[in-house]
Amino acid sequence: MGLVTTKEMFEKAYKGGYAIGAFNVNNMEIIQGIMEAATKNNAPVILQVSAGARKYANPIYLKKLVEASIECANKNGVDIPVVLHLDHGPDFETCKDCIDSGFTSVMIDGSKYDFDTNVELTKKVVDYAHERGVVVEAELGKLAGIEDDVKVADSDAMFTDPDEAERFVKLTGCDSLAIAIGTSHGAYKFKGEAKLRFDILEEVSKRLPNFPIVLHGASSVPQKFVEMCNKYGGNIPGAKGVPEEMLRKAATMAVCKINIDSDIRLAMTANIRECFVDSPEVFDPRVYLGKAREAVEKMVSHKIVDVLGCNNKA
Ligand code: G3H
Ligand code: 13P
Ligand code: ZN
Repeated sequence: MGLVTTKEMFEKAYKGGYAIGAFNVNNMEIIQGIMEAATKNNAPVILQVSAGARKYANPIYLKKLVEASIECANKNGVDIPVVLHLDHGPDFETCKDCIDSGFTSVMIDGSKYDFDTNVELTKKVVDYAHERGVVVEAELGKLAGIEDDVKVADSDAMFTDPDEAERFVKLTGCDSLAIAIGTSHGAYKFKGEAKLRFDILEEVSKRLPNFPIVLHGASSVPQKFVEMCNKYGGNIPGAKGVPEEMLRKAATMAVCKINIDSDIRLAMTANIRECFVDSPEVFDPRVYLGKAREAVEKMVSHKIVDVLGCNNKA
C-alpha cells in the first residue's frame, strides 16, 4: 500500500471509538521511529509536515524520506496505511505545493482570520484538493502556542463555537475540523489543573454527526522526559501536557486525529542529553541519534496502544 487519504481511516476510527496518531516529522530518525512503532503495532499512521519542517529539512528530502520508509516497510512485507499530511498550512500556495507534490492530506489553517475569510480561504483549498483526490483539514477557534501571541486558551472567545463549526463545515466542504477545547501547542499547556471542554466537543459532534474532529496540541508531556531533561542539564521546569486519560476519552468521542509533536521533541532531547552526560566520550551522531530514534519508537508505541487505541487497526 502506498500513501492513502484519511477518509477510510477516519470512518473506521469514528465507528470504532479510537483515534489515529498524527506525528510531526522533521528528519530521518523521527520518521523511522514512528514508522517502526506503527509497523510493530499494525497501526494506521499520519506523518505530518509543518511549514517549519519544510523550511528546516527541505520539502523534497521529507517527501523522499517518507517514501523510503514506506518502501522499506513494503519490502519487509508490511502493509499499513500511511497518510502524508501538511500541518498548519499557512496559505493556499503552500497547500497547492503539497497537493501537487503528492501529499494525500493538507491542513489549511485559517484560524487567524475572521470567520468569512477563513471560510473563503478554506473553500478555495477544498476545491483545489478535492479535484485532485486530496482531503482537507481546517481549523476554527484559536489554540494557544503557535497561533498568534495567545498564551493560554482559557477565555470563551478562544474556544470553538459549535454553531459556527456547523456552518463552517457546511460552507467549506472540509473533510475534518480542528477545534479549540482547551489544548495548546508546546510543552506548557496548563498552569493549574488540566481542563478540556468536552461539552463543546459533545455539542459539535451532535451538530455534525459522524464528522471527524481533530485535536491539536495533544502532547501529554511525559514527566519522565521532563525530569530527564532537567536532570541532564536542561531547563524546562513546570512543563505540563494533556493527561492521557483525557486523550483516551476524546478518542472515544468524535476525535479521530490526535496531533503529537512536543512529545517527540521531549523524548529525543531527554535521551540525547542523558547520553551526553553519561557517555561524554561519545561523538558519533549515530549513537545519540540512534538512542533518540529508539525513544521515539517507544513513545509512539505507547501512544498507539495505551492512548489512541489504533493498534491492529491497519
Ligand atoms: O503545531 C505545530 C507543530 O508542533 C509544528 O511545529 O512549526 O515548529 O514545526 P513547528
Ligand atoms: P503538541 O505541541 O502538543 O505536540 O501539538 C502538536 C500539534 O498540534 C501539531 O499540529
Ligand atoms: Zn497543531
